[in-house]
Amino acid sequence: MAGVDRRTPIRDLLTNANAGADVTVTGWVKTSRFSKNVSFVHVFDGSTPKTVQIVLNAELAEQFKAELGIGAAVRIHGAWVQSPGGEQSLEVSATDVTIVGQTHPSDYPLQKKRTSLENLRTMAHLRPRTNTMQSVFRVRNALANNIHRFFQDRGFMWVHTPILSTADAEGAGEMFRVLHGDDPEFFGGPAYLTVSGQLNVETFGQAFTDVYTFGPTFRAEKSNTPRHACEFWMIEPEIYFANLDDVIALATDFVKTVTKATIEQCPDDFAFFNKFIEKGLLDSLNAAISADFARVTHDEAQDILVATGKKWEFKVGRGESLQAEHERYLAEEHFKGPVFVTDYPMEQKAFYMRLNDDQRTVAATDLLVPRIGEMIGGSQREERLDVLDDLFRRHNVPGEDYEWYRDLRRFGSAPHGGFGLGFERMLMWITGMKNIRDVIPYPRTPGQAGY
Ligand code: 4AD
Ligand code: MG
Repeated sequence: MAGVDRRTPIRDLLTNANAGADVTVTGWVKTSRFSKNVSFVHVFDGSTPKTVQIVLNAELAEQFKAELGIGAAVRIHGAWVQSPGGEQSLEVSATDVTIVGQTHPSDYPLQKKRTSLENLRTMAHLRPRTNTMQSVFRVRNALANNIHRFFQDRGFMWVHTPILSTADAEGAGEMFRVLHGDDPEFFGGPAYLTVSGQLNVETFGQAFTDVYTFGPTFRAEKSNTPRHACEFWMIEPEIYFANLDDVIALATDFVKTVTKATIEQCPDDFAFFNKFIEKGLLDSLNAAISADFARVTHDEAQDILVATGKKWEFKVGRGESLQAEHERYLAEEHFKGPVFVTDYPMEQKAFYMRLNDDQRTVAATDLLVPRIGEMIGGSQREERLDVLDDLFRRHNVPGEDYEWYRDLRRFGSAPHGGFGLGFERMLMWITGMKNIRDVIPYPRTPGQAGY
């Protein structure tokens, strides 16, 4: 096995290694307990939520006692043997201990007692070592991998759309301007950080049929909420020869397949979330995986809200827009699970969404989920040039800035659509984490860029 001399990951040790093997464990001390005859050290290395138990004889314990405090980096060589203790079946009987990196237990900011997630945000360099962050970031990795696998298994091509952009893809004016020192015209005109790869990926869809982007996007969000970040990752599939029903079918298959695969790959992490972060999480995710997702029009959704007779902070009724309080009510209380809302009033959505025959609504859809609200936003795109030009006018978007986008409607236009999944929103949904800042390695929000 490659790298066997360097270390055996604790995950492999706990699942594969046979008793009697000679092993080398590297990692950091989570707990240690010293007594006269036999002493125990628990070490983690990030490969699993579990620690490995290291047993030290009296001589090794005496020699390293002072240095094996919480947080120390260690390399331990020994035999993988049956454990007489109840909690684990095997343990390392140490023959060699190396303190690779010292620690200072009394100064160490992450003591055994639990620190609040808010407080951990002030220690972005240390929090990856906590149980919660260990599980969050292992699951973040697994989710990203499963998302790529989902699309690759279905023949979608990953397109690396640009981060530096000149177009306001969503027309919402939430872009960060990019400047080069004292030369604002470096790119020959204003440049921004992209808010979405969609418009760029559409050109590739019109050449490769089924495509997707997966990368960072940026929004100058003024709203400081638990669900908005200035820098987040978005997954945007785009499919051609397809209508809104095809987009909804893809989104449904996508959410169910990647959720199921991620839960299966990280059972210990999900057990942790289910116990400590959100009680009932696994039941609600498993229910979502096996249920049909509900689907209502925007008009129907507004009628449902009006019929509750509740006092809402924001107005409800046909033509009003769905706010977070409404979105959560629909998913959490009314439908008790994910729900697609379709056919939004044209003026509430971006210019590229396909105008419905009623001339009033567009073929848009948002997927609302419990605890989060909007997790996905998508639509069928306007493929008719004359209607697109009309939409530019009605949205006050300068069509002449989008000549290339208009060209796509001139040369082999075809019905098409897609959606954007907020990667961190989905991560919050499947882990039960309540704040987007706690599922991003280095969160960027208004007033907070950190290091
Ligand atoms: O609904 P949005 O703005 O849609 C688009 O950008 C389209 N171009 C997508 C497409 O059709 N290809 O954003 C898509 C998703 C939202 O549903 C939400 O989950 C997430 O991106 N999102 C954010 N996540 C975190 N922080 C923010 N500031 C976000 N803004 C949007
Ligand atoms: Mg949206």
